[in-house]
Amino acid sequence: MSKLPESNEALVGFQQCPVLGVGLGLRRPLLESTLAASDIIDWLEFTPENYMGRGGKSVRMLQRAQAQFLLVSHGVSLSVGSVDPISELYLDDLQALFEWAQPAWFSDHLCFSSVDGLYFNDLMPLPRTRETVRHVVSRIHQLQDRVQRVFLIENISQYINTPFDELADADFISDIVTQADCGLLLDVNNVYVNAVNHGFDPLTFLENIPLERVVQIHVAGHHQFPDGLVDTHGAPVADPVWDLLEWVLQRSRPCGVMLERDTHLPAFAELVPELQKIRQLWNQTGQPVVNRAGCSQRELLHVPA
Ligand SMILES: [Fe+2]
Repeated sequence: MSKLPESNEALVGFQQCPVLGVGLGLRRPLLESTLAASDIIDWLEFTPENYMGRGGKSVRMLQRAQAQFLLVSHGVSLSVGSVDPISELYLDDLQALFEWAQPAWFSDHLCFSSVDGLYFNDLMPLPRTRETVRHVVSRIHQLQDRVQRVFLIENISQYINTPFDELADADFISDIVTQADCGLLLDVNNVYVNAVNHGFDPLTFLENIPLERVVQIHVAGHHQFPDGLVDTHGAPVADPVWDLLEWVLQRSRPCGVMLERDTHLPAFAELVPELQKIRQLWNQTGQPVVNRAGCSQRELLHVPA
């Protein structure tokens, strides 16, 4: 078994995250197939907004997943870059959920998605300024102080740049994760989509971010539209994205790599080759994964009962 932190306190540092291996996003239509696939999946990522403050079927679904897999949480509505106060109600519900779901870490996106308390279903790009860096860093500190769990920030697909940008994309992300001392959830499909749409070299971007902070990696599919690529999570992973994943895995030690598929959900069997491909690339890193056989989630993460 991989070396695990000795106390809950140690989990505050991203360096102590357990090495989980190959993951998949938990999606209701694929629930039964997913739960039967512990031979090819090591862990699952859930969207907390689907379960917070809820009971019944939703919670039972997550409880079933938790009985078989280690979990991580990936939120969509933290709105970390907004100037609205972080919702205390949201944090209360998040903490109540984490109390029993016990995710190994939690994450959300480097974006804003609310203005004056009004939320929208989009991950809006932030102006890449030093003031934004200071603002987001202070919000992540606030979040980590409150939730006391490892937090990762994810690079988004960004279709427009704001006219206020002072920093290159890589410098913006690097400054935030370094100053906030948090982990990075690196979405290599987002890197590729942005590189094609904005005409930059994805490897130059990757060479200029702190790969030592990558705790989790997302791979996903996109679609080509007349005006560019769109990060739909609704297609097989494209070859150049696999190439980026391989490049990153040769230079970093993430704790988990997972497949995101949210639209045009196929039969589970169609996802298996992609999960196997991730496994193949993961195995090339030589990293052992946590063997949770016989361990409860609390025991594995050394969380006091
Ligand atoms: Fe992602």
